Parts: sequence; C-alpha cells; structure tokens
Amino acid sequence: MTTSIAVGLGERSYEVRIGPGLLGQAGRHVAPFLRRPRAAVVTDETVARLHGQTLRAGLEADGISVDEIVLPPGEDQKGFAGLERLCDGLLALGLERRDVVIAFGGGVIGDLTGLAAGLLKRGMDFIQIPTTLLAQVDSSVGGKTAINASAGKNLIGLFHQPRLVLADIGVLDTLPARERRAGWAEVIKYGLIDDPAFVDWCGTRGAAAMAGDPGALQRAVEVSVAAKARIVAADEREEGVRALLNLGHTFGHAFEVSAGYGGGVLLHGEAVGCGMALAYRFSAAQGLCPPDEAARAVNAIAASGLETDPRRLPGGPWDIAALMAAIGQDKKNAGGALTFILTRGIGQAFIARDVDPGAVRAFLASELS
Ligand code: NAD
Ligand code: GLY
Repeated sequence: MTTSIAVGLGERSYEVRIGPGLLGQAGRHVAPFLRRPRAAVVTDETVARLHGQTLRAGLEADGISVDEIVLPPGEDQKGFAGLERLCDGLLALGLERRDVVIAFGGGVIGDLTGLAAGLLKRGMDFIQIPTTLLAQVDSSVGGKTAINASAGKNLIGLFHQPRLVLADIGVLDTLPARERRAGWAEVIKYGLIDDPAFVDWCGTRGAAAMAGDPGALQRAVEVSVAAKARIVAADEREEGVRALLNLGHTFGHAFEVSAGYGGGVLLHGEAVGCGMALAYRFSAAQGLCPPDEAARAVNAIAASGLETDPRRLPGGPWDIAALMAAIGQDKKNAGGALTFILTRGIGQAFIARDVDPGAVRAFLASELS
C-alpha cells in the first residue's frame, strides 16, 4: 500500500509517497508536474542496469518521453567536475527552465542532480526517486543539495526542494547488504534524536529490515520520513532544530573527508553510525549523558552490524589533526566555536554550541589509542 507524507513548506510543500511498485506507475505520479510530456532522468550505471527499464516503462506508459543521463556510481561524482559534466549533459538535451529533472538513485545522484537543477537556468524543478535506504529515509527529503570540497563534505550547495519524492520500497530488494546497513544508521538516528520507542522498534524489527522484509522496510521509511518532514517543516534552512538531524555527522563527516571520497572505502552511513556512537561516548565523557545510557545507544547502533569503534572503521588509520581540521569546517560552527549534536540519553539529542576543541581532541586521542 502506498502511504503519503506531506512536507509542509508553504508554496514549496510536497509529498513523499512510499510503497511498493511505484516505479512502474511513475508516469501517473510525475505527469501532474510536467508542462510538456518529457522528463530528463539522471541516474547511475548500477541503478540504470537494475531498474532503469522499469522506470522508463512506467513513465512512457503515461506518454512521457525520457532522456536518460547515466553517471558512474560513487561519491567521487559529487565534485565540481561531476557537477560540470552533469550540467553540460542536461543543457545538451535542450531542456527548458520549466522542464523537470528526475534524480533516480542514491544520495549521490540526489544531491548532485538537485544541485544541478537548482543552478540550471536559475532553477529548474526536480523530482526525487530515491533507490537506496539512505536516500529514501534521509537525503531525498528536505531539499539539501550539494557537492563535496577537498575541505569537507557537502560544503558547496543549495537548499532546493523537490516537487515530489517517490520512494519505491521494491527497489531496495537489489540493494547490497552493506548499503542497507549503512542506510540503517540514518533510520536509527531518528529514534536516537527524540523517539526512544522507535529505537526499541529498530531493536525488534531491524534484523528483518536488514534481511529485506518489505513490511519492516516500509515502516522504517515511513517513520523516518515523518520525523524528517516534521523537523524540516519547522526549520527548512537549519537555523535551529534541523541541526539535530546532524547527530553523528560532525565526527562522521571528518572520517569521510579523511578517508577520501569515492572508492567505496567508507560509506556515508557507516561514518554516521560510528559518529553517533562517538557523540554518545563524548556526551558521557563530558558528564552530559549517563554512561550506561550511552552504552545502550552504542549497542543499539552496533546491533545492526554498524562499526562503533573508530579504530576498526574502514578508511583509517586516522590522523587526529586531519579530523580536527575537518571538524573545524563543519557547517554548524558559528562565531569560530565548534557546534556538535550531543545527547542526554536515548531520544534526548540537543545542539551544543561552543564545544571546547581541546576536549574533542583529547576525546579522539583516547578513542583512537
Ligand atoms: P550512493 O548514492 O553512492 O548509493 C550507494 C550505492 O548503491 C551506489 O553504488 C549505487 O549505484 C547503488 N545503488 C543505488 N540504488 C541501488 C539499488 N536499488 N540496488 C542496488 N544498488 C543500488 O550512496 P547513498 O548512501 O545513497 O547516499 C550517500 C550520499 O548521500 C552522501 O553523499 C551523503 O553526503 C548524501 N546525503 C545527503 C543528505 C541530504 O540531506 N541531502 C542526507 C544524507 C546523506
Ligand atoms: N541530513 C541532514 C538534513 O537533511 O538536515
């Protein structure tokens, strides 16, 4: 069954439709957003091979002609060179400003295509059709688009909301187990932020979701999207509460920058999973969170198979100075002070401004020793 969750943003509001079989019916969902029966689909080689024909048939069934741009898979597409190639490719299709671009893939395709759409002709509409668990529960919703810089993750980008998100649970069947697990980090994140009951649910249904149970996956996507929609509607441009969605990301992004983008060495969700464990242990070390509560949170993250010990996280060994440099570039920082999402317990995340860099450095030294 398809469920629909609204992201309430006034004239930029849109729906996230979640359910099985949506690719095959895509034309019906997409057509109301088109000025003429034509759409440009941006995807990667893996998604094109596995699901491209189903989407094409679903669009063509409603008379929509499809131009496809197929990029190599991987995080290293999310740079200036990848953005330039994509913009040139979309312009070569002769699209008009009021045409619609469809981002069909994981978070890399969504972030890159959303940014290209936001820039081209000063802003074209786009639709997200996310195909990874991570993209369905997080990156396709909320309008953050970006490429990476050598100084840090997602540092060059725009807020540009999609017109529609179609999350077809069926496409997750082909997702490798490692990618599903990485996406699970962003699922459990919503519970850890402010919903302890959802952490319990993840504990009981996580194994089924990891094994590909469609009911468990659909529920996980629904709860996650509803949580994200609520936060984004309250704070679209991250002036305050939206920063909570960054739980685990300050440490996580630092690992990603240090590991180098691309090559699949360290996945974003893996970095976030370990980053959330560090956020809990750092909160405990600062006397903010009871140590047994931090240990329970870390166990909940580890239960899905995510690594919570940075010494064993792929991409190491880690250089503390490089991690600290990346942390210093974090977008949440303000007035020269470090900002972290810390926690008082499971479901009790909060924004901590003015975090002492010396304390972070000492904590990392103890974690990595
Ligand atoms: P990804 O887009 O690289 O996809 C992971 C891999 O899975 C790729 O190799 C892809 O080809 C493959 N794949 C995709 N769908 C598949 C399917 N159905 N079956 C088989 N293989 C499939 O990575 P991701 O984890 O989806 O996204 C990570 C990116 O998202 C990072 O760049 C991160 O910064 C970004 N992100 C953005 C936001 C946001 O709010 N904009 C939030 C979270 C993460
Ligand atoms: N993924 C964090 C956000 O959308 O704000």
